[in-house]
Amino acid sequence: MNSLKEKYGEWGIILGATEGVGKAIAEKIAKGGMNVILVGRREEKLKELGAEIEKTYQVKSKVIRADFSLSNCTDAIFEATKDLDMGFMSYVACLHSFGKLQDTDWEKHEQMINVNIITFLKCFYHYMGIFAKQDRGLILNISSLTGVTSSPYNAQYGAGKAYIKKLTEAVGYEAEKTNVDVMVATLGSTITPSWLQNQPGGEAGEAAIKAAMTTEDTIDEIFDNIGKVHSLVVGERNRNSVKHWQTDMTADEAAAYMGRFYE
Ligand SMILES: NC(=O)c1ccc[n+]([C@@H]2O[C@H](COP(=O)([O-])OP(=O)(O)OC[C@H]3O[C@@H](n4cnc5c(N)ncnc54)[C@H](OP(=O)(O)O)[C@@H]3O)[C@@H](O)[C@H]2O)c1
Repeated sequence: MNSLKEKYGEWGIILGATEGVGKAIAEKIAKGGMNVILVGRREEKLKELGAEIEKTYQVKSKVIRADFSLSNCTDAIFEATKDLDMGFMSYVACLHSFGKLQDTDWEKHEQMINVNIITFLKCFYHYMGIFAKQDRGLILNISSLTGVTSSPYNAQYGAGKAYIKKLTEAVGYEAEKTNVDVMVATLGSTITPSWLQNQPGGEAGEAAIKAAMTTEDTIDEIFDNIGKVHSLVVGERNRNSVKHWQTDMTADEAAAYMGRFYE
């Protein structure tokens, strides 16, 4: 099944591909016939993933080591992809830090701004420009329910996720009546290695895992909706939560609901 390749082009880049959601997206587009460019900090792990994807899906892979918290990290990425027939970009990586705003080191704030906003915007701008010019391509950006409610004690992360969501929704509208599909997928709890690390042990942790979505279900639902909507809250339970927050709660009440998780 080479449907994604036929529709969007030869190569797709996943920014934050090493594990979790990014890895599942890389596998999904490879299954759709696209060659994958895997970007992240852990080069060895990315190379292993690339080899596994090449073998399973008979596509090509490239690995680019980059740390999105560093300014100018995109120079090497854009240089490495400039001669390729690009058709897909997904910005997946995120950075969070728990604690009150003023108790978090300024250096950490700058890193979060880079990962969650500046590098994201540079990549979105760059590949959107290419896709618009060729009138073909797919952008898939990843947001979070914390960007819907706001996220006390993880405030900058939540604000960054709101930025990704609102920016992508607007650009999605701008790209209507073209052959460029633009989507932001808003995720709730999704079982990934980094999410598991942040879960409590015991019964509370078990309940959280039971309520969370798998990456496979998440990615299948996202790809089933591409070209149909620009903004998707993934999962019935998450959609019901958003509906409840937006219809039955004030913004203060929704922030308090999220804040209580970290108190
Ligand atoms: N999991 C959830 O429950 C959940 C819920 C809501 C929203 N989301 C969103 O879903 C996305 C993926 O979540 P996830 O749990 O799969 O995330 P993750 O594991 O924290 O990050 C995904 C990938 O990004 C790469 N990455 C992280 N920081 C990077 C940096 N500074 N530079 C380059 N690459 C970096 C990591 O690889 P390296 O370590 O090799 O760099 C990792 O493979 C995020 O945008 C997150 O906000 C997740």
